[in-house]
Amino acid sequence: MSQHNPWPDEGNTGHIWDEDLRELDNPPPLWWMLSFYAGFIMIIFYTLYYPTIPLTDGTGEFTKGVAGWTQVEEYHEDFAVLKDWRKSKFADKEEKLASMSVDEILKDEDLKAYSVATSKQLFGDYCAACHGAGGQGNPNFPVLADDDWLFGGKPSQIEASLINGRIGNMPAKGLMGNLTEQEMNDVTDYVIALSEGKADEPVFAAGKAVYAKGMCLACHGPTGKPLAYTGAANLTDQIWRFGSDRETIYNVIAKGVNVKKDGEYLEGTQKAVMPAFNERLPNAEVNIKRLTVYVHALGGGQ
Ligand code: HEC
Ligand code: HEC
Repeated sequence: MSQHNPWPDEGNTGHIWDEDLRELDNPPPLWWMLSFYAGFIMIIFYTLYYPTIPLTDGTGEFTKGVAGWTQVEEYHEDFAVLKDWRKSKFADKEEKLASMSVDEILKDEDLKAYSVATSKQLFGDYCAACHGAGGQGNPNFPVLADDDWLFGGKPSQIEASLINGRIGNMPAKGLMGNLTEQEMNDVTDYVIALSEGKADEPVFAAGKAVYAKGMCLACHGPTGKPLAYTGAANLTDQIWRFGSDRETIYNVIAKGVNVKKDGEYLEGTQKAVMPAFNERLPNAEVNIKRLTVYVHALGGGQ
């Protein structure tokens, strides 16, 4: 910086660098000043118009603004607009769902895709807690995404599962409840052999006899594969609802499934109840069809 100012009349501030680099003292342009003041006016307007200043009285309240505007209200208004828009956009599809049967919906690729897409949230809200997101199952709750069905994978069977709910009943210790300790052990080994495809080996002959004596075959079928979908598990696959270890399998046979005594669940019995959704679901008539299509499309539908 130099003390000597060779340009005294040009209105510089007297700050000069590198011989001739000067700082001039010009007023800011008019447009800039106007925007600057407009900014102030906007701030005052905002402060008065919108909720702004926190109050210091410890209530956590704030000035509400003269407009009475709130973010939540705006959200609700916008959401209502969106809902109306959706309703009008998909009204014809919803009407079709209401008037068609599940079988008919499954034949219509467009409606099928629509049902699946609109089921995901419903499934998450009403089914996933038990059946897992995507229907992959949870311990003690059946997988819906495979082709191993307790009550059947035809659309009408899935629909019935949803409308009325399902309760699979298995008596404790065979149909008559009279199996001895020895017989229980033999039949447990036989059941495990069934799942491993070894049931015909002579060592399991005793268990096979108990399987007949306990009338297991009435529900699980003569070969361990149920003849009809009555809720009984297929024992010839590796899919175990209640656990694959010998102790669990023994306990299921010993305590049964959903066994009640004097109106109370028998201690140790497996509880497996699918609630009825006819009255639980909003707009049940359409939503049950939608979910039936969804479950059917998860992979195991028949
Ligand atoms: C409270 C837990 C629970 C909820 C919630 C639930 N389920 Fe189930 N669901 C079960 C149980 C347990 C079974 C098996 C019943 C049995 O073994 O007796 C089952 C069985 C089923 C079956 C029959 C499976 C088969 O193999 O035949 C279908 C289909 C099904 N559920 C679909 C659904 C759908 C769709 C929803 C949501 C609307 C839902 N479930 C909600 C517990 C539940
Ligand atoms: C009245 C019909 C009925 C009879 C009789 C019956 N079961 Fe069951 N069984 C069922 C039902 C229903 C289930 C539960 C299926 C479910 O909810 O996953 C079941 C489940 C099982 C399971 C558990 C399968 C799994 O995936 O975890 C085993 C093991 C089993 N039964 C073996 C037997 C044996 C052995 C006998 C004869 C001593 C027998 N059951 C008699 C109906 C029956």
